[in-house]
Amino acid sequence: MELKSVKEIPKLKNKRVLLRLDLDVSVGSDGFIDDCEDARIKSALPSIEFLIKKNARITIVGHMGRPGGRVNGSLVLLPVVKRMATLLGESMNSKTSIEKTRLNDFDAYSLIIESSRMKIDVLENIRFFPGETRNHANLASKLATLADVYVNDAFAVSHRAHASINAITKKLPPYAGIQLIKEVKNLGKVLKRPPRPLTLIMGGVKAETKLKLIEKFLPRSDYVLLGSALANNFYSELGFEIGNSRLSLGVGSIVKRLISNPAYTILGDVGKNILINPDEVANPDIKTIKSLRKRIILPPDVVLGEMHDNKRLENNIRLPRRTVLVRADNPEISPHPYSILDIGSVTVSLYKEIIKHSKTIIWNGPMGMFENEQYDYGTYQIAKSVAESKGRAIIGGGDTVTAVESDRIDFSRNTFISTGGGAMLEFLINPNLPGISPLIKKTTA
Ligand code: 3PG
Repeated sequence: MELKSVKEIPKLKNKRVLLRLDLDVSVGSDGFIDDCEDARIKSALPSIEFLIKKNARITIVGHMGRPGGRVNGSLVLLPVVKRMATLLGESMNSKTSIEKTRLNDFDAYSLIIESSRMKIDVLENIRFFPGETRNHANLASKLATLADVYVNDAFAVSHRAHASINAITKKLPPYAGIQLIKEVKNLGKVLKRPPRPLTLIMGGVKAETKLKLIEKFLPRSDYVLLGSALANNFYSELGFEIGNSRLSLGVGSIVKRLISNPAYTILGDVGKNILINPDEVANPDIKTIKSLRKRIILPPDVVLGEMHDNKRLENNIRLPRRTVLVRADNPEISPHPYSILDIGSVTVSLYKEIIKHSKTIIWNGPMGMFENEQYDYGTYQIAKSVAESKGRAIIGGGDTVTAVESDRIDFSRNTFISTGGGAMLEFLINPNLPGISPLIKKTTA
């Protein structure tokens, strides 16, 4: 798949470029984005710096969160613009400043690189407009008034048919940004007949998106390893008590379908097709690992604790951390008010062994509440074994990338860290995403 690159835009000098980025990053409670959370902003720098060098006039469009078409004060892009100003200032060796501005129908920020007086405009969160997620042509037309060409460097949101991703490509000549091209090239390597066994590791939140992707991915997966909030829905559906643990609503039917999927029906002695008996896998050998092929595996043990942010936990520990085995004959995994916050050590050694025997690994979503160091062990161990694995690995999803960046693990050249979560998995299932198809070069055969 060859895309029209930003580097092929003719006569960039003074050309107005609408640059779509994925600015959906976590903002700390102090209103700042720290250097473990800014991977998506950093990944956009090569395109921005290229356009600056060519003296193009840049207007950036991005989103944060899911504000549902309404202005939401907690999802404004000012923290992102500040972080971008710092990063660009460092790379351009210049002071930067920020001013609020308005561009036609849009509230915006001007980021000024003081040494050159170069100005980059960043529109306020585009999802404040209802037309964005409806892929509305009117919103795309309004955006088009701001530019001469369009560049998509927002791989992580390219699976969405949204106005600034898809409809806009009918209004302005579309091109692909530098990071997006890198994503397509690297993910393309596992598209066709990836070496098996292929292991899919899924955790984190956004269950409604991930469960659909797991279902689509089953036929090409040998092992599906679950963790974090994603696993809770399965425990709950199987009748376990999960206390105060996070649960996604409205996903019951897909969880039921996955539990009863005939291609994956392998019964342990526990009588439930996706539960693994912890005693059987405590020290897994290759025979055990092979016998688990074609299974969706729920953690056989989990760590419980109290859901708190770091600070409150330090000051007020009421429920100390403890590990429990998940057994079919004990319906209470997590009594109230405990929450499941990490995978346990039996799960870690089982998952590590499966990862070791995998030739392709696709990982999306942390294994627990890694932001709190009491519960980061599972995620860290999985990251370490993915880094040590000889197979080709792809890691994606905002939280997963934050987790591996904050652990400072050295990944080999066999690992590609994608900026996309859902987009990465959708791309691997079908690369013709709404934001990518319009960028494909037409062959003249
Ligand atoms: C992401 O965070 O994966 C992207 O920004 C897409 O977000 P969405 O799932 O809210 O569309």
